Amino acid sequence: MARMKVRSKTSRAGKKAAKRKTLKTKPIARNRMTEDKAVKAVPVPDKASPEPKAMPVKEVFVRDEKLVVVVDTTAKTDTTITQPKTDAKASSSGKSGIGIALVISNPRAPHQDDKAIQLCLMHSKDLDLETIIFNGDMIDYYNRSDIDRNPLRSFTVKEMSVMRSEIEKRIRNEESEAQAEADALAEEEERKPWKINTLTGEQLERVAKKEIQEKAHGKELGQLFNIMKLFRDAHPDADLVWVYGCQEFYLMKYFGKYYPELLDEVDKFCRENKIQRVNNGTRNNTYNYGQLVVGHWYRGGLNSPSGSVAHLLMDDEGVSLIQGHTNRGGWTCRTIAGAKPRFISGFENFSLCKRPTGKNWQLGYSIVYREKNKRRFQVFQVPIANYGFFWGDKEYRLDPTKVGSWEKAVAFSDIHFRHEDPEALKATLDFIEELKPDVVFVNGDVPDFPDISRFSNSPLDVLTDEDLANLANLVLESKQQGGSKKYIKPRLQRDFETIYGFFKDLRKRCPKARIIWVFGNHDHRMQGYIDENARHLAGVRRPGDKDDLLALSAVTKVNEFGVEIVYSGLIESSTTYGDLLVGHFYKVSNKSSFTARNLIQQKRSSLIQPHVHRMGACYKTLLDGTVLVGVEMGCLCRLDPHYMQNPNWQHGFVVIHKKKNSGRFYLQPIQIVDGAFLFGGKRFGRPSSADVKAVGGGTNTANIETEKV
Ligand SMILES: [Fe+2]
Ligand SMILES: [Fe+2]
Repeated sequence: MARMKVRSKTSRAGKKAAKRKTLKTKPIARNRMTEDKAVKAVPVPDKASPEPKAMPVKEVFVRDEKLVVVVDTTAKTDTTITQPKTDAKASSSGKSGIGIALVISNPRAPHQDDKAIQLCLMHSKDLDLETIIFNGDMIDYYNRSDIDRNPLRSFTVKEMSVMRSEIEKRIRNEESEAQAEADALAEEEERKPWKINTLTGEQLERVAKKEIQEKAHGKELGQLFNIMKLFRDAHPDADLVWVYGCQEFYLMKYFGKYYPELLDEVDKFCRENKIQRVNNGTRNNTYNYGQLVVGHWYRGGLNSPSGSVAHLLMDDEGVSLIQGHTNRGGWTCRTIAGAKPRFISGFENFSLCKRPTGKNWQLGYSIVYREKNKRRFQVFQVPIANYGFFWGDKEYRLDPTKVGSWEKAVAFSDIHFRHEDPEALKATLDFIEELKPDVVFVNGDVPDFPDISRFSNSPLDVLTDEDLANLANLVLESKQQGGSKKYIKPRLQRDFETIYGFFKDLRKRCPKARIIWVFGNHDHRMQGYIDENARHLAGVRRPGDKDDLLALSAVTKVNEFGVEIVYSGLIESSTTYGDLLVGHFYKVSNKSSFTARNLIQQKRSSLIQPHVHRMGACYKTLLDGTVLVGVEMGCLCRLDPHYMQNPNWQHGFVVIHKKKNSGRFYLQPIQIVDGAFLFGGKRFGRPSSADVKAVGGGTNTANIETEKV
């Protein structure tokens, strides 16, 4: 009897007891494998949410004059809690018709980066969040970890030594008590006492290790709960959604087998904090936030380049999505052809963990704005650099005394005059006028110059509505060619005048800014034409002049407006702005973000790249921890040029903050959709009726009507 008592507190019988408990408690998370049951299961009783979650509606249509509602019984959502809607919530984000969501991935407790999480929390408090999505790998399962595979990693050697000796002491005490009990029984029965079985040193060590391991897992869970609790406390009315990642998949399976009590703790925590879990029992889980799919796909290989996995998934699924899992940033875009082109984007959602050296991981998260009643939304990536970042024009730092002194710049490109998009161009220029940047980079391809191109070009003289309304402007009068003659201006002349007018307007809008025109391949066409067709005029200057007679800057007279020219002849032109390379590089990959990646590899520098007319971003962490970023900055030309069918282009530009007296910079790429965009939560461009609360003081209002899907 005494023998049994000792064993029950140690190994074999203990395992049996645990197994019995497993069967009795049967944690909720493991009951979701059967799809139908997952939806129909009665939720765990909870006073705050007594209503079972309704089945998702898959399709609604009219048949035989009756409304037919098809319910999706195969929905993946493992919903344990339905978040009650409070009045406070309805009066804030509900009223404006705009929902704002925060998406965070990969804190990987216990390896979370607490400073980065605090920064994210600080930012979130300035946003009227409707939803917070914990997008997988919130906890790190040691046996599948990329960071630390020690199951006891949560404790120091000293802590483990103390725990081990306590456990050993307890077990040895229990054995002594059992022996004493056996001796007493033998004495009572007047027989020779039995010697009870005791654990060998090795067995004792194993038992101690398992107990410490359970404590370690418990501690890691505690750290995870602390992270989630921070966001729950800061946003008591927000919907909290936990999309399981691959780490959760493995960990919960492991808990179910060895530590079912810990699964109960997870259930209890989610119930108490009203956290809806999305878990279909696989390593791929997704949650629809409006039309945006936020998910954790076990796909892509962590060593592939930033942006590539997002591109793969985006093309496979054909929708806009945010992918966790890869621990790095990355943004990739695609324009889908149609009567009205659609824009989809794939994002890789960074991490919030301490990054191991040698991994291409970065810190950051995403913010999503969406119109509740429309299919419109926009995603903003927020990379964290040196424990700070910009959201709009505001710098966030954990320590407010460290907020720096920054100058700001806007870079835009690829207007391709004659094929410009007036709406996107005006939205950008109006924004620049309001932002008042210190520097404006016009990053190449200002004119299209089809007439002096080596590529075939239509001989038709295309006239715009504006040309037709002002036909007199198209007439030139010459007195040098045998009396007075009037004739239609050469097309090149019109291009020169357009460029002159454009820079005149830009100088008027930002009178104090440095305006830097970095030449692109289309700007180079002027010099290329002279070199090939009028080579005796190449390099010729008026007496005393510093500029070539036929230099583009001279024939367009933009020097009048103090425009600085960056032009390196035949070679692609670039300049630096702090540690950032601003150039027009002649490299094009057919996938968004891949050009930036190739250029980063080639130049070994952070850079912004026009020329591809696409938006996208690629990140690379070097072995010394430096993060390089390459941004493809979109274009401001028409997206339906007559010389190309369904180009995969997007409108956009980049806002750059550069620390004064330092090389440090921060980039915010902005995509313009239908002539409008958001910057720091504030709407610019084409007006809309919906209101968005601006970031910062919360007193400004702006609108959103941008569309990614
Ligand atoms: Fe271009
Ligand atoms: Fe170009």
